[in-house]
Amino acid sequence: MDVCLSSAQQPACLGEAAGRLEAAEEGTVQDDGTGGSSGDSKEMEPCLHNLQKFVPTDYASYTQEHYCFAGKKIIIQESIESYGAVVWPGATALCQYLEEHAQELNLQDAKILEIGAGPGLVSIVASILGAQVTATDLPDVLGNLQYNLLKNTLKRTAHLPEVRELVWGEDLEHNFPKCTSYYDYILASDVVYHHYFLDKLLSTMVYLAQPGTVLLWANKFRFSTDYEFLDKFKQVFEATLLAEYPESSVKIFKGILKWD
Ligand SMILES: C[S@@+](CC[C@H](N)C(=O)[O-])C[C@H]1O[C@@H](n2cnc3c(N)ncnc32)[C@H](O)[C@@H]1O
Repeated sequence: MDVCLSSAQQPACLGEAAGRLEAAEEGTVQDDGTGGSSGDSKEMEPCLHNLQKFVPTDYASYTQEHYCFAGKKIIIQESIESYGAVVWPGATALCQYLEEHAQELNLQDAKILEIGAGPGLVSIVASILGAQVTATDLPDVLGNLQYNLLKNTLKRTAHLPEVRELVWGEDLEHNFPKCTSYYDYILASDVVYHHYFLDKLLSTMVYLAQPGTVLLWANKFRFSTDYEFLDKFKQVFEATLLAEYPESSVKIFKGILKWD
């Protein structure tokens, strides 16, 4: 499943989507889902179809959390019901790093892919800083991710971020062929914790890294398995510790794939 809007669809579709978001918040959405628009309903169909996936159905389980990065207020819809619907400490540390080093990293127009984007804070900040962002995650969190990206980047960014499914180690050649999927940066925050997909995660990082790609990985180090992953990471990536936040135990590493 791929719920991203193609770049050809984006501006119009996201415009419609934003209208519906605003209408939903103002309580003016009609039961037929049209938001009361008298426009050509056939033309709007694909947009509304996509948008239905963006809007969470159970509002009661969600909270709105406020962040401030790159001079903008960012509101993230979070839910404690899923690891992927909460902002983790690695994400706030990586956002801080991106905003402090935006020029040095040359983020303007940079092509960025985030893996395990969760509720989307890092992708939103990278977009606000001028990058062309593709935010990826498991299918079940893509709706909330899309909602947050849309709400925080529409009319605020030069490039609207895309949302795509990327399951670590699955169908990468098919969904992200190397010839069309070059990224200047791969971003990852708090993707290493107690789960069974650490080998697939590492092979995904390796697959996505092409010559010139820089991987920025922020992680809260909690378990011995986190350090074991770091050892494996260092075997395949030239790793540099960029920043350390002792109060949260987050470290940020830069990784450049070893080609020898
Ligand atoms: C701890 S959360 C971190 C979310 C976000 N990066 C942050 O720091 O706030 C881990 C993220 O990895 C995603 N994830 C876990 N296993 C995955 C897999 N096998 N393939 C793709 N994404 C996965 C989860 O859905 C979740 O969004």
